Amino acid sequence: MVTVQNLVVVGLQWGDEGKGKVVDYLSEHFDIVVRFQGGSNAGHTVKTGDSVFKFRIIPTGAVRGLRTVIGNGVVVDPIVLTSEIDQLHSEGIEPDLLISERAHVITPYHLEIDSLQEASKGNHKIGTTKRGIGPAYSDKVQRVGMRMCDALRGRDGPQWRAFEDHARRQIEQAYGSEVSERLSGDLIEFFEAVDRLKPFMGDTGDSLTCAIEKGERVLFEGAQGTLLDVDHGTYPFVTSSNCVSAAAATGSGVSPLSISDVLGVVKAYQTRVGAGPFPTELGDAVGTRLCTVGHEFGTVTGRSRRCGWLDLVALRYAVRLNGAKYLAVTKIDVLSGINPVRVCVRYELNGRETQRVPPDLDTYSRVRPVYEEMSGWGEIESPHSLDALPREMIDYLQFIENYTGARVSIVSLGPDRSETLVVPGVIPCLPRHA
Ligand code: IMP
Repeated sequence: MVTVQNLVVVGLQWGDEGKGKVVDYLSEHFDIVVRFQGGSNAGHTVKTGDSVFKFRIIPTGAVRGLRTVIGNGVVVDPIVLTSEIDQLHSEGIEPDLLISERAHVITPYHLEIDSLQEASKGNHKIGTTKRGIGPAYSDKVQRVGMRMCDALRGRDGPQWRAFEDHARRQIEQAYGSEVSERLSGDLIEFFEAVDRLKPFMGDTGDSLTCAIEKGERVLFEGAQGTLLDVDHGTYPFVTSSNCVSAAAATGSGVSPLSISDVLGVVKAYQTRVGAGPFPTELGDAVGTRLCTVGHEFGTVTGRSRRCGWLDLVALRYAVRLNGAKYLAVTKIDVLSGINPVRVCVRYELNGRETQRVPPDLDTYSRVRPVYEEMSGWGEIESPHSLDALPREMIDYLQFIENYTGARVSIVSLGPDRSETLVVPGVIPCLPRHA
């Protein structure tokens, strides 16, 4: 039988699609789980039995005791990461973790600069998570950043001195602010955390390539979502990394040829946190209902998410960019009891219809969604087989498949592992029944 050796799981919307749950569910079929981009702006919730884990950096597979890798494409906040290691310890789990020496670190300066940058933007704020993501990636590209291997050399290392000069200049000159007193305490904590991470550091590209050559199976876990990708998303209202599947190779140090397949995770409706265009956003009672029933509040920031109908134009764009053959559709239970349900199948702009996601914000903010209306379904008791799903829900899923060309392989009907249905035979590596 053909098996998928290495799979990339990515978000197909503006993040928060429920990737954590899907990765957790799939990870029992893999040996290693890898994070390859983003940082502590991500928030993965995994619920298992009575325990709820909320991770920002540690790959989700850690909950199952799998080998986990944080690739070079991630920006690592050592203080957050050590606290997550402590969280696992408190549940009796010893993480088997490898962190790339080449991964850039988020320092206390980056956190400070993220807040100052946002404040300086006035009404044009991105609405970042204030986790220092943008400043850390900017420094990486400007070639003044700090990597894990540089931070290990401490405050006397050559890279730190150059970096600190640059960071202080930014705070004082670019933002006319004083470097906060609090920072000196934070820096002590930062370097202590870096030291604690030393035993976990290594060459992730080399280690993963060897593992793949030995036939071990690797699951690459994306963070954020395709519409937040710095190249392909709704720029500038995006995050600062590539969130698409191609980044799995550059962000972990393996060849693109070692990636066998891609699964995209899509929520059955659309959400967005932070600013930026959102054609199908609902400002009415249905929008409020989606937010309340779907518990649409950010894992990292606690902000309430903007909610709207599923946007198939944007979804097809995301499926194409990622080469996603398979879909996991999450939170479809949240639509139960809404009748009719709508999906956006075209945009209208200046009296003309289009099925293209426009690159410029001004145009994207002016498109109007054109909807297909479908019959809704009533409240459901977590069904344990696909046959028990309401006919209208199956029609909804088939409509998504027909529109995007990707196959629905997983349907998630609630936060628990047990509330997951697998469509038999779609992904070769999965069991035939959940
Ligand atoms: P940053 O990644 O903190 O710089 O934030 C940039 C934009 O991406 C903001 O709109 C954030 O709300 C959004 N964002 C970043 N990470 C996530 C995520 O994991 N889920 C949803 N939105 C996110």
